[in-house]
Amino acid sequence: MSRKIDLRSDTVTRPGPAMRKAIAEAEVGDDVFGDDPTVLKLERMLAEMVGMEAALFLPSGTMSNQTAIVAHTQPGDEIICDVGCHLYNFESSGPAVHAHVIVTAVEGHHGALTADMVRRRIRPINMHQPRTRLVCLENTHNRAGGRIYPVELMRGVSTVAREHELRLHLDGARLFNAAIARGIPVTEWTSLVDSVNICLSKGLGAPIGSMLAGPVEFIERARWIRKRMGGGMRQVGILAAAGIYALQNHIPRLAEDHANARRLAEGLFDLPGLDVRPQETETNIVIIRVKETSRYSATELLALLAEKSVLLSAFGEGVLRAVTHLDVNEADIDRAVEACRKLLAA
Ligand SMILES: Cc1ncc(COP(=O)(O)O)c(C=O)c1O
Repeated sequence: MSRKIDLRSDTVTRPGPAMRKAIAEAEVGDDVFGDDPTVLKLERMLAEMVGMEAALFLPSGTMSNQTAIVAHTQPGDEIICDVGCHLYNFESSGPAVHAHVIVTAVEGHHGALTADMVRRRIRPINMHQPRTRLVCLENTHNRAGGRIYPVELMRGVSTVAREHELRLHLDGARLFNAAIARGIPVTEWTSLVDSVNICLSKGLGAPIGSMLAGPVEFIERARWIRKRMGGGMRQVGILAAAGIYALQNHIPRLAEDHANARRLAEGLFDLPGLDVRPQETETNIVIIRVKETSRYSATELLALLAEKSVLLSAFGEGVLRAVTHLDVNEADIDRAVEACRKLLAA
């Protein structure tokens, strides 16, 4: 059987020999005591890269986002976010369970909220109503197909947030994808927000881990919350070493993932039964809409492709998602396109 072309997510990458060497050689200590030099190095490094005062290493993007929400809010507060965003839809009701906040989800433009959308939702200070406290944004936007948040739109939201004394959290699980695709530094976005989550375990290719960055006081609060959630880790420098390796070696190469995603979108564009939009494929995520006129439904296509060792993921009614990453190359993409063509072309 041929090698699997796994396009289900950019989380499926496996650490290569150089990253494994970095893991094996990592200097470690008990990080709950603040003794792990490799974790401290990673936290300093990431904070500097995103232009924030401090950063915290967490096991997952979910814990990073949810810790941020708890740290920014009081029980009963309201947060505003896009209706398709990850921390609202795919983090197991975290805002309700951990932070005891209510969520007002607004239909954004390709996942991006505008200043006006936010302004209209901010409530007056009134004891009958929740206190609007936090706005959460996502860049790149997973559900919207890896779309990049326009800097100017985010600047507008940031201004409104400041005017109303709201906090702004950015779920930048794939923020480096956005930066590489636009050719600008991540600080173009991070300078506009109070806190940011960055995942090391997605396009950057580390086996585990996410970073939460923000002001020192906020990160110290987040450290307590992480401990309460059971996320205090001990000799975790072995994982931090993989994160350092990823930040040092895997950022510029994200451009290859974007080129491969575009190649995939262009290859699928004219296949009968599919609606794929190369011009909307800005980073490493390709959304594949399966038309009602298609020979196979999305579910059937998913199963048939899996039989041919091409793995995609289901992404809602009649929609599939493909994500490129460092374990798939151009030849794999061409094989995936060919497999789709054979199934769908008349
Ligand atoms: C935009 C976004 N934020 C957060 C997460 C959560 O990351 P994790 O799977 O590490 O909890 C994901 C995961 O896919 C994501 O796509």
